[in-house]
Amino acid sequence: MADTEQVSGAGTNMMHSSILRVIEDKKNINQKLSNIKHKIGIYSAKGGVGKTTVAVNTAFTLSSMGYKVGLIDADIDCPNALMFLGIEGTFSDEYPLKPAEKEGVKVVSTAMFVDDAKKPIIWRGPLVAKMIREFLDNTDWGPLDYLIIDLPPGTSDAPLSIIQLLSLDGFVLVTTPRHISAVNTIRSGMMAKRLGVALLGVVETMSDGSGDGGEEVAKELGCELVGKVRSNKMFGEMSDSGIIPVLKDDEIRKEFEDIIKKAGLVEK
Ligand SMILES: Nc1ncnc2c1ncn2[C@@H]1O[C@H](COP(=O)(O)OP(=O)(O)O)[C@@H](O)[C@H]1O
Ligand SMILES: [Mg+2]
Repeated sequence: MADTEQVSGAGTNMMHSSILRVIEDKKNINQKLSNIKHKIGIYSAKGGVGKTTVAVNTAFTLSSMGYKVGLIDADIDCPNALMFLGIEGTFSDEYPLKPAEKEGVKVVSTAMFVDDAKKPIIWRGPLVAKMIREFLDNTDWGPLDYLIIDLPPGTSDAPLSIIQLLSLDGFVLVTTPRHISAVNTIRSGMMAKRLGVALLGVVETMSDGSGDGGEEVAKELGCELVGKVRSNKMFGEMSDSGIIPVLKDDEIRKEFEDIIKKAGLVEK
């Protein structure tokens, strides 16, 4: 009996100290990022729904509106943001970490930790959390109006670390019109709600009238459907050749300006 009490006492103490560590880390990180006015996460538990597309185009639309913008590609398994931007980059040994830059938007990506972007990053949970902490703690962003975070899919270690460590303004959720995608995006929205992160809105991507994924997510989570990004081959070209649709096409940029306003990222 005494042993059980001792063990559970030690367990409680360990848990207590790890919670205290997260609280302390969060305080330090947010102090370091205090010259960043807004931190917005782009999120869905499902891969391939358009998170990176929305993150990149939101970042460049905000930049074209005159704001200073940074972008974090925190997807460990498919860190595509640099490819979408048509740039390459690796971190040097220098500290703090220096973001890559495209047309005034500063970018860091998990891909910058490896010397070949095609190499998989095979890391276990604790290392993933450590790398994310490294990003948040040690990047020299300078003053920013917006930091857009392209979250990894899933509802476990990697997104959880970001949610725990960053004081986010909120999430923009992403879904396709498909029911399967909506269900998984609802899952991420529920997790965000349970962790107290605001839901700023839902964006439906690849909209082609084949389903009501955006409406489904908005209704289930009680948040606004802030835009539908129509299916357009320019987005495929972006992932293949680094063309940024909102910088090339006025109609697409207006769609993103509307999304940004409806989600309350800037004044309407
Ligand atoms: N509105 C759209 N129209 C056509 N293709 C799109 C659209 N949005 C995204 N895509 C394409 O869908 C694929 C997955 O998008 P991506 O942003 O990489 O998703 P995720 O980051 O959620 O995995 C990419 O090839 C992208 O070019
Ligand atoms: Mg992605």
